[in-house]
Amino acid sequence: MDIAILGYGVVGSGVAEVIRKNSRSIADRAGEQIRVRKILDIRDFPDSPDRELITKDPEEVFGDPEIKIIVETIGGIGVAQEYTKRAFSAGKHVVTSNKELVAVHGPELLKIAADNGVSYLFEASVGGGIPIIRPLSQCLAANIINGITGILNGTTNYILTKMRRENCSFSDALVNAQKNGYAEADPTADVEGHDTCRKIAILSSIAFNEYVDCSRIHTEGISRITLADMMYAEAMDSVIKLIAVSRREGDRVFARVSPVVVNKEHPLAGVEDVFNAIVVSGDAIGDAMFYGRGAGKLPTASAVVADVIDIVKHNESTKTVWQRRDTDNMVPFGESVTGCLVRVAARNKNEAAADIEKVFGRVEYVSADIKGIDDELAFTTAKMTESNLSERIGELKSMRSIKEVVNVIRILEL
Ligand code: HSE
Repeated sequence: MDIAILGYGVVGSGVAEVIRKNSRSIADRAGEQIRVRKILDIRDFPDSPDRELITKDPEEVFGDPEIKIIVETIGGIGVAQEYTKRAFSAGKHVVTSNKELVAVHGPELLKIAADNGVSYLFEASVGGGIPIIRPLSQCLAANIINGITGILNGTTNYILTKMRRENCSFSDALVNAQKNGYAEADPTADVEGHDTCRKIAILSSIAFNEYVDCSRIHTEGISRITLADMMYAEAMDSVIKLIAVSRREGDRVFARVSPVVVNKEHPLAGVEDVFNAIVVSGDAIGDAMFYGRGAGKLPTASAVVADVIDIVKHNESTKTVWQRRDTDNMVPFGESVTGCLVRVAARNKNEAAADIEKVFGRVEYVSADIKGIDDELAFTTAKMTESNLSERIGELKSMRSIKEVVNVIRILEL
């Protein structure tokens, strides 16, 4: 079967490479040869082994009846959305790694695919090379999924790991992640948690069987995390990770993306570098953890090509449709409950401690010997709602004994 690739970037070129390299075993598994017939990109790649296949003319792809499957690795919404719809109208299946497009326009695109009798598959959109979309929608289909907790962004996990292990700065670690092809074109999406947010929205939509809108998920990134935060976490026998959580609460869904303090006994604490891990809790299976390389050329290409093989083998249309609920299906963020690590810089430590206890009641202090920081108090709070927490933090900020609330980082339950 012939396919075309839209976008010859990190993932697109990886797809061509995997198909070239493993063509025989892919053919054995798919039951027929899979050939890349065209690659659409507006750039020139004179030194690429695929240069003969590259075209700038979309009609050579969409107008070619021999091309049955389109791999969309353009990313973003604009052109990627337009070409995805164009492929569906031309009766072509689409496989993508584009989490932004799936998270934002999944309901419409899945419906158009189904109406046109073709598939829209996106295994590579979450967790890079880790199989998670298909296990969640098929292998765990007998379960009621109660929750998902995961590290879903390779770039930020790589940055946090490098900072902690090598005492290196945030920006050096980021440059390194970009060099390795892990980061998004604009790394803000990684660093500020948007990429993780889109991924947890996709997983939640599958797990809870209705569309979870990423714009409704409270999202914070890691740009405010410092080495000092990591040292306090270490003093708590913990590490800091960017964690996505999502769970069913009654008939609503709670989801959040934020840096959290993770105790070293938690299975996610040991997930390092570019690796991702996703813990799925189901009523029949209990907890199942999926672990592997969450970003990078070949791991992501591996997931894309697996979707292509699936279509070639089964050649049937997507049955999945994500319904949007008419009423709000999200738990308001302010109602969710959390405990936190709070760092304050004090004008006077004794007065500040008394004020902290006036506001929070009894707290547990965390002490860490951090060079250059001697005016701070760090403590962990009891669990409380987010609204309650932000009111109390507001009160602390207004106190004379306190110079500044330096950081507030949530604590993940074991
Ligand atoms: N920028 C993403 C990450 C790529 O670092 O996880 C894989 O989705």
